[in-house]
Amino acid sequence: MPGLVIVGAQWGDEGKGKVTDLLAEGADAIVRFQGGNNAGHTIVRDGEEFKFHLIPSGILHADKACVIGNGVVLDPHVLLGEIDGLKRRGVDVGNLRISSNAHLIMPYHVLLDTAGEVKLGKLSIGTTRRGIGPCYADKALRLGIRVQDLLDEKILRTKIRAALEPKQQALRELGVQRRKLRREGGEGPDAIADAPDPRLDLHTMTEEHVSFGHRLEPHIADTPRLCWEALDKGGTVLFEGAQATLLDLDHGTYPFVTSSNPIAGAACVGAGVAPTDIDEVWGVAKAYATRVGAGPFPTELDDDTGRHLLERGHEFGTTTGRERRCGWMDLIALRYAVRLNGMTALTITKLDVLSGIGTLRVAVRYRSREGAVLDRFPYHQSILHGVEPEYEELPGFDADISGCRTAADLPNEARAYLDFISEFAGVPIRLVGVGPGRDQVIWIGDEPDLRAA
Ligand code: IMP
Repeated sequence: MPGLVIVGAQWGDEGKGKVTDLLAEGADAIVRFQGGNNAGHTIVRDGEEFKFHLIPSGILHADKACVIGNGVVLDPHVLLGEIDGLKRRGVDVGNLRISSNAHLIMPYHVLLDTAGEVKLGKLSIGTTRRGIGPCYADKALRLGIRVQDLLDEKILRTKIRAALEPKQQALRELGVQRRKLRREGGEGPDAIADAPDPRLDLHTMTEEHVSFGHRLEPHIADTPRLCWEALDKGGTVLFEGAQATLLDLDHGTYPFVTSSNPIAGAACVGAGVAPTDIDEVWGVAKAYATRVGAGPFPTELDDDTGRHLLERGHEFGTTTGRERRCGWMDLIALRYAVRLNGMTALTITKLDVLSGIGTLRVAVRYRSREGAVLDRFPYHQSILHGVEPEYEELPGFDADISGCRTAADLPNEARAYLDFISEFAGVPIRLVGVGPGRDQVIWIGDEPDLRAA
């Protein structure tokens, strides 16, 4: 399996980081191909917890190239913070490679993200407010600043000036709004002086970013070529998706989506490889479902079971700390994700969270407001917003399964639950997570030997 894509099969936070970390063992390069620091991966290694927002999970493997691809939007502040944090913990980051074509999240993108959300009010998307949408918008408008621009002060200044100019009005409005809020919050007149926001000063921004460029320069590389070289000599490259299928800009629950394409097809564009370089697509789904932010979520639970999932599953966002909305596994959505991504295998994470919850339910069809039975994920927003899920009930299990290491160790009910999912989705389950630790997994069938591919 020389080219293997790992994607989220639901609304994100499925545990892709852990799966990537396990599969990275036999890979030569690990590449992130979209998203930015809206993502959050937690990996537990020898009892130590690592949280990443931007750096690919593969960074813990010093002997492998760890790549931030051209499709990623990169906040240099955040990236340098993560690099410093890792160095402090003794992790070597010499293997980090950054695409010169990746776009930068600039301070004005972060401000505009918040301003946009505030302006939308009740219609807001619930973004992570990390500047993701405005940065991708500038990329499409051809007003983006790219990593390579950090290496030439003159070009950088010219590009920042051009990008800033059309945003002045929106940013001025934001300044007025903020001052009003501070005034309402009781801050004195000195604190609300009309001083311009230093983060938006062209000179300061340029200087600061030139210094970021100096620090990042050793990592900047021709990353598509790096992937080609690894693939052409028979090596294995993992393409690590962030967010997930149902947050895809084109195929997710628009407009309650992120601003990039987290599906497998986007790995080619976001890393610079060909469709024929992709051999396998592994989807990652939780044994139940969660979602952060606004938008349709047919199987959402607003009851004790939902609370159980939230608490037992520690369902709080890695990036924003927000409580995740929790619900039953939605097999209509999962089957859609399997087909859309061309998944060759599925990983089910957090199966242990379901223990003791009683009868398990999985959505197997939707009913529309008009009473129509739907067995496919609806493409029309208004229909999706109005559907009610219909469930299949499966026997639950009470045993603590966190110590299980083979499928045979699992209670029959847990195995039957997995079989039902796999059969309905039409794809084999190859890996099951039964706890946060790296070793708390069950391989179904042989553990893949990537080196032997
Ligand atoms: P944005 O990506 O910050 O623009 O946010 C758009 C939507 O995607 C919001 O609903 C976020 O909560 C959601 N989102 C973005 N990144 C993640 C993630 O890594 N996990 C789960 N949801 C995410």
